[in-house]
Amino acid sequence: MTWLIPLFKIYYDNDDIRAIKEVISSGMNWAVGPNVTQFENEIAEYIGTKYCLTFNSGTSALHTELISHRIGEGDEVIVPSFTFIATANAPLFVGATPIFADIDEITLGLNPDSVVESITPKTKAIIPVHYGGCPCRIRELREIADDHNLVLIEDAAEAFGATIDGKNVGGYGDSAMFSFCQNKVITTGEGGALVTDSRVLYEKAKLIRSHGRLETTDYFSSSECMDYITLGYNFRLSNISAALGLAQIKKVEIIIDMRRQIADTYTSLLRKYVPAASPITTPSGYKNVHQLYSIRIPDRDGLMRFLTDHGIMTKVYFPPVHLTHFYCREIGYKGTLPITEKIAKEIISLPIYPGMPDEDVKRVVKIMSDYYGG
Ligand SMILES: Cc1ncc(COP(=O)(O)O)c(C=O)c1O
Repeated sequence: MTWLIPLFKIYYDNDDIRAIKEVISSGMNWAVGPNVTQFENEIAEYIGTKYCLTFNSGTSALHTELISHRIGEGDEVIVPSFTFIATANAPLFVGATPIFADIDEITLGLNPDSVVESITPKTKAIIPVHYGGCPCRIRELREIADDHNLVLIEDAAEAFGATIDGKNVGGYGDSAMFSFCQNKVITTGEGGALVTDSRVLYEKAKLIRSHGRLETTDYFSSSECMDYITLGYNFRLSNISAALGLAQIKKVEIIIDMRRQIADTYTSLLRKYVPAASPITTPSGYKNVHQLYSIRIPDRDGLMRFLTDHGIMTKVYFPPVHLTHFYCREIGYKGTLPITEKIAKEIISLPIYPGMPDEDVKRVVKIMSDYYGG
């Protein structure tokens, strides 16, 4: 379907096109190359961590983190259900069990009280999510992890550039993941990154990312025979994608500012014209980068149909993972999560993207106001 106003659009300029053209026309280094290392250095510097490794998706970065932290069979990992399914699947990839905890109604991230209630002697790690670009209560979760000797892995897929009191998310966990999929804050089409301050974790993850190969130099431009010392995958980000990443990261503050401005416009118009809507509020000191603009609203499904009829795309981020066919039927999950289930019935994500004209924001709000008889 072609939408009059899509949910997201990719923000790009001539720098992105030039960056890719350069790699392509060099006729080499399309897979591995210098852009990858440079992109990693720039991410680490921006987030404020010692190390960064890029990946071909956020999911492969998360998978690698679980292996690198030695999480496996018999271990439990606490995750939200109000997330993209990859967060919960990652423990399953390594034979561990995801344990769903509930979220808090403000940040829509893991509720620290629910996390504490979910801890058992088998708990090994917590994977909190920074929903839609809003930091979760990560400082409290850091304390819980420290008190119970648990690994904290941030799923910051949606929150590149989000901060609490000036400190970037991604810097609170023992490691963290970002996604650069096309609907994220910055994008390489598909892609992801792992950040950490641990040299040991970084070295392990680097091996896993590329077949377990002990790389002393660039594999493709060396005739040296390299040894394989562990089980690994091909989770590498290509040098072409990394070139795009470098062009994108240069614009990250502009992108974030535009997203935040559009979110502010939505919030003030909705408060005025659609009183039924409850915009998500960001706690003070928290910087929300608004990868999503989500609100809670009654009769959400009727509104979605009405907006669709007017060519406006919306989406439910997220239908709870624990209620999917896979988790209910295949895994046999039986629990309930009252806050997650309540919010999932009311939440709707409205179109937002850098460069979205004010006129389009007004049009979305006008149609919503018409629906609610405003
Ligand atoms: C919260 C969350 N976790 C994990 C992922 C997975 O990232 P990727 O699509 O890059 O594999 C996403 C992406 O949609 C996400 O939103």
